Amino acid sequence: MNPSRRNLLISAAGAGLALLGVGAAFAATRTPHRAFAPWQVSPADDVRLHAFRHAILAPNPHNRQPWLITLVGKDEALIHCDLERRLPVTDPFDRQITIGFGCFLELARIAAAERGVSLAIGEFPEGMPEASGRLDGRPIAHLKFVGEAQADPLFSAITIRRSVKEPFDTSRPVPSAAIEALAAFGSARARVGGTDDMALVQDLRALTWTAWMVEANTHAAFKESVDLMRIGKAEIEANPDGIALGGPLLEAMALMGLLSREQMLNPASAAFRAGIDKYRPIIATAMGYGWIVSRANARTDQLEAGRVYVRMNLHAARAGLSMHPVSQALQEFPEMAKVREEVSRRLSLADGETLQMLARLGYAAPVTPSARWPLEGRIRTV
Ligand SMILES: Cc1cc2nc3c(=O)[nH]c(=O)nc-3n(C[C@H](O)[C@H](O)[C@H](O)COP(=O)(O)O)c2cc1C
Repeated sequence: MNPSRRNLLISAAGAGLALLGVGAAFAATRTPHRAFAPWQVSPADDVRLHAFRHAILAPNPHNRQPWLITLVGKDEALIHCDLERRLPVTDPFDRQITIGFGCFLELARIAAAERGVSLAIGEFPEGMPEASGRLDGRPIAHLKFVGEAQADPLFSAITIRRSVKEPFDTSRPVPSAAIEALAAFGSARARVGGTDDMALVQDLRALTWTAWMVEANTHAAFKESVDLMRIGKAEIEANPDGIALGGPLLEAMALMGLLSREQMLNPASAAFRAGIDKYRPIIATAMGYGWIVSRANARTDQLEAGRVYVRMNLHAARAGLSMHPVSQALQEFPEMAKVREEVSRRLSLADGETLQMLARLGYAAPVTPSARWPLEGRIRTV
């Protein structure tokens, strides 16, 4: 479809809104307030609940929120993966899902420290699944809230942290000092790289776009994302996870039959092309990149990558710098292998190293939070 036809559809959706007689009034009611409620964290809870109310705000792949929390005794907890909430096509070895657990554990640690309590994290206490296989029913972590800890200044950023899935301001370069500050979050097991060098940025923009198109044109991979799209307020509130397509315009398009999952999956449809038109400027406006590389790729290295990533993301949020993971090129389904190799080569990875995260950097206007399931549904007591 040519751009003018697409614009026509969008105007038709706008006109549809007007015809529905709703306009601004309709727009004002489209915010999924219930799905955003977990971001309003009350300070009243005991330390474990306080820690987990913050931990569930962690960045995580496709916002699947795969954590299951079991409170044990007075000061312990076990964290398991809800195995139904993985992404078997685009994340066949559960590597990215495990990174999300690293983000979760680090936020729990920071939130406990805010209450002056130290969190002892025992990773994979019943053994570690092979990184070449999949996660299983064994716990990801055993947690014990013991001893004293100093507050961490990153705490204040937990509720303002976002993955900013919007175009960035191309008139605002990312200062080298900002890249250096992010690199300082690297650890012995998860080193951080970054660039504001526009030659490298241009190459990474091109590679991440190629990767995006590979995913879009690989039916099973794209279907995994499309199946998780929540179109409009009612769907977002019914399932506050996955990929939210909110806002009055998209809802109007859906109401008018211009935006359905079937259409989004069909490369010949306007909805598929609209998806490409939405993401192209997002990928094309990266003004810098940050990435995390680990020498080994055991499950514990993946957790460490998540812990480092979320610390970078919190720091960036405090500094007003937007971050957005672009993981398509890192995905491990066969069709992506060539692009993955090219990105690893362009980032000069050594043999045997694993690129765990790649995020674009830049500046954008503030965005709304992403949806979350309430903590109560993810927690049980034994
Ligand atoms: C391991 C990992 C990979 C991710 N990959 C992508 C990605 O490729 N594209 C994207 O838009 N967001 C990606 N994200 C961000 C998630 O989509 C995001 O964290 C989730 O939707 C929740 O939103 P929030 O971070 O704003 O709270 C990734 C996050 C993690 C932890």
